[in-house]
Amino acid sequence: MKKRFLSGMALAGAAAFALTACSSDGGDTGSSDAASGDGGGGGGDTIVVGFAQTGSESGWRSANTESMKTAFSEDNGFELVFNAADNDTAAQIAAVRGFINQGVDAIVIAPIVEDGWDDVLTEAADAGIPVILEDRTVSASEDLYAAWIGLDFEEEGVKAGEWAAEMYGDEETKMVVLEGTTGSAPANDRATGFDAAIEGTMIEKIDSQTGDFTRDGGKSVMEGFIQNYGVDNIDLVYAHNDDMALGAIEAIEAAGAVPGEDIKIISIDAVHDGMQALVDGKINYIVECNPLLGDLVAAAVTGVINGDDVEAVQYVEDLAFDQAAAEAALPDRKY
Ligand code: AHR
Repeated sequence: MKKRFLSGMALAGAAAFALTACSSDGGDTGSSDAASGDGGGGGGDTIVVGFAQTGSESGWRSANTESMKTAFSEDNGFELVFNAADNDTAAQIAAVRGFINQGVDAIVIAPIVEDGWDDVLTEAADAGIPVILEDRTVSASEDLYAAWIGLDFEEEGVKAGEWAAEMYGDEETKMVVLEGTTGSAPANDRATGFDAAIEGTMIEKIDSQTGDFTRDGGKSVMEGFIQNYGVDNIDLVYAHNDDMALGAIEAIEAAGAVPGEDIKIISIDAVHDGMQALVDGKINYIVECNPLLGDLVAAAVTGVINGDDVEAVQYVEDLAFDQAAAEAALPDRKY
């Protein structure tokens, strides 16, 4: 797939486009006939959008939900039918089926896992309802959805791994990994990118288990690692998100060790709590994963419904932070 990277400037531009596109119908918030599927955003009516969110597993997810709800507001010409599936794939697919039966104008999905989407995406296509993916990818054919907007998870893993290789790669380093949700695109791709970047270094992965992207999951998996290997035999934690890193910090402190010193920590997301832990020296490096995708997704939905030429693959660029960079960035962080 062709990659289109969007910088902060482009994001601002897209936001302006989204607002213009949606206010051209006067921001009509009158009710549309969802049951008949006659929302017809292209004709100037309210656009009825079903959004199937993963759940509320992390700080990143809360920021993403907030961004989507703000972008798909009534003032912007949308009626949002929101569903959060609590990280349950069957429930998320059932929610999408519900949107199809309801006859919404468009469906947006943040897919929990990559596999298993072919049938329901085909049903949406047969019903003539365009699907736009946000955040995570699927393994189903690209013909089954109109656009995908999100982050380059593999590149995030590469950035994290390159920093680890530079800082710790020349000395014997025993690493444990806190994986995201099994089968999800970020868990798969962040592992692939990181592993490639540390190849040939002295960093040894001694264990890797899922903490499901949650703080509690990260804490209990880290407690298990400490119990199995001993706190003195773990040098580095690579956490697939900040929430799991924050849970690991609690487990490390409870075991009487100092996170960021005795055990180094690298994570991904750069949400406020994670950045504060980096500033406090408890996390050593964070690669960003930008959750503020709402305006871009809303612009894509409007474009698809209006029959415009919408870029099929839209990557949003991520930054990375060491302690000094986090200190400088934290006061202005939006999430
Ligand atoms: O898909 C993005 C990932 O999902 C974020 O990194 C994680 O925090 C969230 O749960």
